[in-house]
Amino acid sequence: MKTRVLTGIQATGIPHLGNILGAIVPAINMSEQADSEAFLFIADLHTITAVKDSETRKHNTYATAAAWLAFGFDTDKNVFYRQSDIPEVTELTWYFNCFTPFPMLANAHSFKDKSNKLADVNAGLFTYPVLMACDIVLYDAHLVPVGKDQVQHIEITRDIATAFNNTYGETFILPDAKVDTAIMTIPGTDGQKMSKSYGNTITIFASDKELKKQVMSIITDSTALEEPKNPDTCNVFKLYALMATDEQKATMRANYERGGYGYGHAKNELLQLLMTKFAKERELFNFYMTDLDALDAKLAIGAEKARAVAHAKLRDVRQKLGLKVG
Ligand code: ADP
Ligand code: TRP
Repeated sequence: MKTRVLTGIQATGIPHLGNILGAIVPAINMSEQADSEAFLFIADLHTITAVKDSETRKHNTYATAAAWLAFGFDTDKNVFYRQSDIPEVTELTWYFNCFTPFPMLANAHSFKDKSNKLADVNAGLFTYPVLMACDIVLYDAHLVPVGKDQVQHIEITRDIATAFNNTYGETFILPDAKVDTAIMTIPGTDGQKMSKSYGNTITIFASDKELKKQVMSIITDSTALEEPKNPDTCNVFKLYALMATDEQKATMRANYERGGYGYGHAKNELLQLLMTKFAKERELFNFYMTDLDALDAKLAIGAEKARAVAHAKLRDVRQKLGLKVG
C-alpha cells in the first residue's frame, strides 16, 4: 500500500518566494515519489476563524491553488482540493468534538497564544485543532508534513482518533507528523526571514514592474561600486544563490570579489534570473487567475476523489455511532 501523505495549506495571499522555495517546491518533489500518494488541500474553512471578508478568502484560495498548479503539482496522480468542497469534514468535526476533552484544547498553542484576550477568541478558533484532526483522519493519512508549530495538532489528532477507536473499534489511522528540518529559511528583502508579516517579500507572481520594485528594494550595505564586495553577507547574492546554477553563482561571486560591480548590477541579474527561471510558472499562474473556470475544473477533479474517500469513511462512522446511514 502506498503511503498517504496529506497536508493542508493556509491560503493567506499570493504565495511569495519563501513559500515557494520553502513549502511548495519541496512538497511537489515529495509528491513525485512513486511510493506515496499526496492529498493536498487548501484549508479555507480554517480561515473563517480569522478572516471574515469573503472576497479575500475566495481570492487567496484561488491564488494559492494557481501557485501550486503553476509549479506543476500533478492533479492526476495526487488529490488536490478545497477543504470546504468536502462537507463530510465538518460533520466528522462534530463527532470528534464530542471525543475531545476540554483541557486538551485549552492547552493547544493555537488557542493558548490568544487566551489572554478571551473576548477575541471565537469557538472556531478554540476547536481549530479538531477540524484539523478531521482533515487528516477522514482520508486515512499516514504522514502529515508540517512545520514545528503544527506538531502539537498532530498529537491532538492521534489522541482524539484513539478515543474514538477505543470506543467503537479500529476506525481511524493514527498519523505521524513529518517535520522537515532540512528546509532552509529564505531571506526577505531586508535579510530577515521572508514573511508576509514583515513586508519583505518577493512575489514572483506579481507584475514585472512590481517584481522589479521588490528586487530593487533589497537592502545592501554602502560599499562603493568600485570596491570589492563580500557575496556571503549580501542579501542579493544570497537570494541569487538559491536559484542560480553553479556557474552563474561562480560568475557573480567573482564579480563581487573583483570590485567595479555594483549592487545595482547584481539586483538586475537577480531580476533577470527570477524572470527567466520562473517564466513558465508566472505564465501559468496568470493563465489560471484569468480563467477561474479552468482552475475550478482542476479543483473539482480533486474534490471528487477526496469525496469518495470521505463518504466511505463517514458511512462507517455513522454506522458505529448508531446514526442512520443513507
Ligand atoms: P508567512 O510567514 O509569509 O505568513 P506562512 O506562515 O503562511 O508564510 O507559510 C506558509 C508555508 O511557507 C509554511 O510551510 C512555511 O514554512 C513556508 N515559508 C514561509 N516563509 C518561508 C521562508 N522565508 N523560508 C522558507 N519557508 C517559508
Ligand atoms: N493548521 C495548518 C497550518 O496552520 C493548516 C492545516 C489545516 C493542516 N488542516 C491541516 C495541515 C491538516 C496539515 C493537515 O499550517
